[in-house]
Amino acid sequence: MTGDTQSRERWPVLVTRRLPQPALDAIDERCDMELWEGPPEAIPRDELLKRIGGKAGAVTLLTEKVDAEFFDAAGPQLRIVANYAVGFDNIDVEESTRRGVMATNTPDVLTDTTADLAWALLMAAARRIGEGDRLLRGRKGWIWGPEMMLGQDVHHKVLGIVGFGRIGQAVARRASGFGMQVVYFDLFRPPPEVERHVGAEYRVFDDLLREADFISIHVALTPETRHLFGTGQFRAMKPTAVLVNSSRGPVIDEAALAEALRSGEIFAAGLDVFEKEPEVHPALLELENATVIPHLGSATVDTRIAMGTLAAENLIAALEGRKPTTLLNPEAWERTRGG
Ligand code: DGY
Repeated sequence: MTGDTQSRERWPVLVTRRLPQPALDAIDERCDMELWEGPPEAIPRDELLKRIGGKAGAVTLLTEKVDAEFFDAAGPQLRIVANYAVGFDNIDVEESTRRGVMATNTPDVLTDTTADLAWALLMAAARRIGEGDRLLRGRKGWIWGPEMMLGQDVHHKVLGIVGFGRIGQAVARRASGFGMQVVYFDLFRPPPEVERHVGAEYRVFDDLLREADFISIHVALTPETRHLFGTGQFRAMKPTAVLVNSSRGPVIDEAALAEALRSGEIFAAGLDVFEKEPEVHPALLELENATVIPHLGSATVDTRIAMGTLAAENLIAALEGRKPTTLLNPEAWERTRGG
């Protein structure tokens, strides 16, 4: 330990799950780190509330609810909650701002990785990859046939993007290689040059539902987007349509989706996220045309390191009195500056 390191202030922080090592090293160098390592893997609520007490900062995951009770348990010295995710529906940002606590997320570093995963799900659902894999593993015997396991063409079809932020646009850009037409819906329309650059045309939601062969969801979870997709929306979609969700599970009414898949109202779905995660609606697990994977959107070695590094940088910046780069509530930062 250098003299410099010895003399510098060290802040007590809580890290709620083992992060990639470079992130832990960075935090450990500047902070007195309490790391939850389980079991169980996800920190139980009572342990979270106990361990956050007296901390100056925390790195949290989407599995932890950061709300008024959390802030009460933490105490007034808490300065920063650095979320290890781009989505922050687990954080009550308004409450965080009210308490003068900075909240950060990890955008950008996972955009392309999540877009790749959305495409993997789209292809898998359209071409029945999971079902084929299960067939062979079942060792029941099979023979090539003209009508065996027919899927849907992806190339030259219409891709509908719901939620045209960073990840939605990255998914849209990938469609040009497949010669697809891209349409999108978002409450916030970007400037026309963004539409031109990405090669996507705006549609009102109902038109997109009717027109798209593939729909990929990339909205944040808010009260307005909860159950954005339900019985009515599935009815409006083509019977050959494929729905992909790598955003947040509650955007889809899972029971209604299971029924739409069962009755053939839509062709298939590829799901990375679930309404009551980690549970998956049992009816979906019975359906061959539901491709389900366990929230792997950002799960690559490089991207998880990048997310951890960004979360650690945000944490340390706030504790050192610098503005974190991906701050969700600049008002809380202004407050620390006496603004
Ligand atoms: C996120 O970042 O919000 C993902 O869901 C996990 O990477």
